[in-house]
Amino acid sequence: MVGNMGNIFEKVWGTAKEFLGAKAPKAEEKEAAANGEYRGFTKKKHNIIPENNLFSISSSEIERKTHENDITPTGIKEFDQLIKDGGLEQGSSILISGGTGTGKTTFILQSMHNCSKERSLKCIYISFEEDPKKIKGHMKKNYGWDFEALEKSGTFAIVKVDPLDVARDVEQIFLEKHGELKIRLEKIRLPFLPDIIALDSLSALSIAFTEEENYRKYITELFQSLVHMNCISYVISETEQDPRIYSRTGVEEFLADGVIVLYNLKKQGKRENEIEVLKLRSSSHHKGRVPYRITTKGILIGQG
Ligand SMILES: Nc1ncnc2c1ncn2[C@@H]1O[C@H](COP(=O)(O)OP(=O)(O)OP(=O)(O)O)[C@@H](O)[C@H]1O
Ligand SMILES: [Mg+2]
Repeated sequence: MVGNMGNIFEKVWGTAKEFLGAKAPKAEEKEAAANGEYRGFTKKKHNIIPENNLFSISSSEIERKTHENDITPTGIKEFDQLIKDGGLEQGSSILISGGTGTGKTTFILQSMHNCSKERSLKCIYISFEEDPKKIKGHMKKNYGWDFEALEKSGTFAIVKVDPLDVARDVEQIFLEKHGELKIRLEKIRLPFLPDIIALDSLSALSIAFTEEENYRKYITELFQSLVHMNCISYVISETEQDPRIYSRTGVEEFLADGVIVLYNLKKQGKRENEIEVLKLRSSSHHKGRVPYRITTKGILIGQG
């Protein structure tokens, strides 16, 4: 048993020292690690991130930027008017749920475009599906938003992550550790500490996992990492066109500080879009659905 744990430790240490830049462990530390007590690893079950971060951003960097509880307008004026505070709280995670083609990606990139262009807020869009070039091309063609220029100005970046790489890593850890997540995963490399980050989409990530339980544990860690970065994080979930369930496992909407739903409804034979702030822990907000349209200027709320 201990011999086996020793092997695992060598493997874990190999990964950990890269991140910690620490000296090789002593015998007693190896023993402690075998008992799950080594200081480099958290004792909390199912926690894979000793520093609470799945992203390549150091804690000291995050501490330098402390805007805790600050309110940041989304940059979509009519949407901000639905919220009493007039925006979203730094450090909050917002789930955007909706059917295919309802404008989830447009909503997020509209917010990022406006925040980055008008207030120089730093935005990172993580794509689990679409090719970054294609996304930028569509945004330019459909709405005239020049993300290439924003990238050059250093306030915007798109990071492409293959969901299969993430899932394979996590599931390998489960196989080796009999269900306990204690080994560090490869971090998602970010070019800078963002004010706003988006993950598009959790649905693409979830289908890469063979076991739903593994996905659940991973996203629990993911939400913790997002909170730790103290930015506004949008996570997208693909649902039915008139959803009653807002995410794959239900854990996502429980973990999120806010849930925004984009509906595509059939009314008298016609399709109409409506948006709803279903939950927002940071502020009171308009209750109920509000119509919106997608136009050459992006999402236009409240003008049916
Ligand atoms: N200029 C425009 N005017 C009107 N509608 C547009 C315009 N540009 C794009 N659209 C519509 O926006 C929708 C796509 O929006 P978007 O890609 O943001 O949706 P999504 O919810 O992210 O979709 P998916 O589920 O594929 O990820 C399409 O239905 C498209 O027809
Ligand atoms: Mg999309």
